[in-house]
Amino acid sequence: MRVLIVGGTEFISFHLVRALLRAGHEVAVLNRGRHPERVPAGVRTVVCDRKEHGALGRTLATERVDALVDITYAPTTGQDVDALLDVLDGRVGHALFVSSGRVYDHALPIPFDEATPRNLYWGDYARDKIAGEEAFFRRHRERGLPVTIVRPTHVYGPLNTRNNETFFFDRLVRGRPILLPGPGGWLRQFGHVEDLADSMATMLGDRRAFGQAYNVTGEEIVSQAGFVELIADVIKRPLALVPCPPGGPPVPFGQNLVYDCHAVYTTTKVRAELGIRPRYTLASGLAQSFEWYLREGLDRREIDFSAEDALLRRVT
Ligand SMILES: NC(=O)c1ccc[n+]([C@@H]2O[C@H](COP(=O)([O-])OP(=O)(O)OC[C@H]3O[C@@H](n4cnc5c(N)ncnc54)[C@H](OP(=O)(O)O)[C@@H]3O)[C@@H](O)[C@H]2O)c1
Repeated sequence: MRVLIVGGTEFISFHLVRALLRAGHEVAVLNRGRHPERVPAGVRTVVCDRKEHGALGRTLATERVDALVDITYAPTTGQDVDALLDVLDGRVGHALFVSSGRVYDHALPIPFDEATPRNLYWGDYARDKIAGEEAFFRRHRERGLPVTIVRPTHVYGPLNTRNNETFFFDRLVRGRPILLPGPGGWLRQFGHVEDLADSMATMLGDRRAFGQAYNVTGEEIVSQAGFVELIADVIKRPLALVPCPPGGPPVPFGQNLVYDCHAVYTTTKVRAELGIRPRYTLASGLAQSFEWYLREGLDRREIDFSAEDALLRRVT
């Protein structure tokens, strides 16, 4: 298949490029060209800012693809998604949109399945993702474009642009304590980036996925405290957790893992309908991510812990 990926050079989209090449597809990426060194040989780059709709129209005027994967969040509004679909109208076989589990109303009881009502619990991000999903669904309803929506949550793995698992690696390899926000009991779910990329590569062109949305993430549910305990176990470092009482100053705990609700999603639909299931357990995925972290020498990077030290002095 000929596949065009919007993005391609950072994290999820970079891993998708690799998964598609492994599966023997022809791949082109559309981005602003800030990381040409990340584009593998044989992959064509279309340099364009997706927010500039006029330029997008000119750049993609003759493009024809079997599959389009809209991944990057630029931040991407519904109008940006519409502009992309307009430009490629009639020249795409199957269009896949990377949304987020954060479209669901997180005030509702867990777990969230694909029929859970969507709302603006997560603010502008949810608004943009819901609008992007709707732009895709509208093309499907009104023009018969085959579309699929993917809703991941807390993606982790090599090259992660969110400082989540690496935040804890950084502290544990240096023998530092980990501050815990409150009791650390909010539930979280993580998905390995290679599993997500492989899932999307598998879905492309699959008629069963047309017109559907799928939660795509790992199978294990873990509390905030349990996540750190698992990381310490996996990387074989002693752990000192320092609980911080609620109501104090913000507690640093990964890049986006501090929030006061559960985040738990069912993956029954993608398993039952498409037979897609993750290859990594959370432990094996974290072990693989830690190997990458060490290989990159990230355990030797300079980090300023002074603010965290001040907080530690307050709470111990
Ligand atoms: N990470 C998670 O835990 C998570 C969870 C749920 C959903 N998601 C969603 O997953 C998607 C992927 O996120 P990611 O962080 O892995 O990033 P990514 O898509 O792998 O990387 C961003 C890519 O987009 C390109 N880009 C950025 N701004 C652009 C623009 N204005 N026009 C054209 N290209 C542009 C970048 O290249 P240039 O800079 O060269 O343009 C880069 O190739 C996002 O939609 C995010 O909302 C992520």
